[in-house]
Amino acid sequence: MQSQHSSNTSHLPSSLVTPQATAAEVVDPQHQIQYLKNELKKAQALAALGELTSTATHEFNNVLMTIINYARLGIRNRDDASRDKALSKILEASERAAKITATILAQAKNRSESMEPTDLASIVSDSLVLLEREMRKYRIAIETQLAPDVPKVVASGNQIQRVLLNLLINGRQSMPEGGTILIRLNTSSDGKFVELVIRDSGSGIPREALPHIFDAFYTTKDGPDESGKGGTGLGLAACKEIIDSHQGRIRVESTLGRGTAFIIRLPLSNDAKAAG
Ligand SMILES: Nc1ncnc2c1ncn2[C@@H]1O[C@H](COP(=O)(O)OP(=O)(O)OP(=O)(O)O)[C@@H](O)[C@H]1O
Ligand SMILES: [Mg+2]
Repeated sequence: MQSQHSSNTSHLPSSLVTPQATAAEVVDPQHQIQYLKNELKKAQALAALGELTSTATHEFNNVLMTIINYARLGIRNRDDASRDKALSKILEASERAAKITATILAQAKNRSESMEPTDLASIVSDSLVLLEREMRKYRIAIETQLAPDVPKVVASGNQIQRVLLNLLINGRQSMPEGGTILIRLNTSSDGKFVELVIRDSGSGIPREALPHIFDAFYTTKDGPDESGKGGTGLGLAACKEIIDSHQGRIRVESTLGRGTAFIIRLPLSNDAKAAG
C-alpha cells in the first residue's frame, strides 16, 4: 500500500498528472478535490441521461403497442366508424411518440448543461411527459398550477429537469397506495424569485430525519423499487448541489402522515426583474 505522504503520483488518474501539471498541483488536495468533483458531475450527468433514456424507452414502447393494437383493429373491422376511431387513436399515439423523442433530443443537445434563459413551465411539462405512465401505474394524480406570466430564469434546463424528476419520483415513492402531487410555479410576491413547489400527499418525513435528507447516501429505502428507482440516497444531495450552483434555495416542509413539500427558489435575472 502506498503511504499517504508519498510524492509518488502513479496512483493518481492519468488525466490529473498532465505534462503541464507541476509537482505542487499534483499533490494539492484542493486540486484533487476539484478534479474529483468535476468527474462526479460528468458521471451524474451521464447517469441522468441514462435514466431518462430508459424511462423514455419504456414510454415509447407503450405508445408503439397502442399503435400496433389500433392498426390491427382497423384491419379487422372494415366499417368506417371503427376505422376512423383506429386512425384517430393512431394519430394521437404517434403525436405522443414524437413528443417523447423530442424530449430526449432536447436533453441530449439543445438543453445543454450551460446556463441560459430557461422556461421552467416547459421543463415541468417535458418531465411530466416522461413520468406520465409511471404515475398512472402507481395511481398518482398530478395537478399543476403554472402561473402564465413567470419569466425565464438563467438556468441549465438539463439540471433543473434532473431536480424535478428526482423530486417527483421521491413524491411517488412516498405514496405506495397512490395519492396526489401538486406542482406549482409562480413568481415570488416580492418579484425577486421564481418559486417551484412540488408537494405530495405521502408519508411525510419524521422531524429527526429532516436535517439529514440532503446528505449524500442518506436513504430510508431498502434499495431500488420494482421500477428500478430509489435507494441510493444521492437524489436530494444532487438536487441541493444543482440548486446551490444556480444561487437558489431548496427547502422542505413536511408533516408526518400528511405529506411533504419541496420549495425551490431561483433568482430572477436583473433583466427579468426590470421587465416585471
Ligand atoms: N417526498 C418525500 N416524502 C417522504 N420522504 C422523502 C421524500 N423525499 C425524500 N424523502 C426521504 O429522504 C431520503 C433521501 O432522499 P433521496 O432522494 O436523496 O434518496 P433516495 O430516494 O432514498 O434514493 P435515490 O438517490 O436513489 O433517489 C429518502 O430515502 C426518504 O427517506
Ligand atoms: Mg430519491
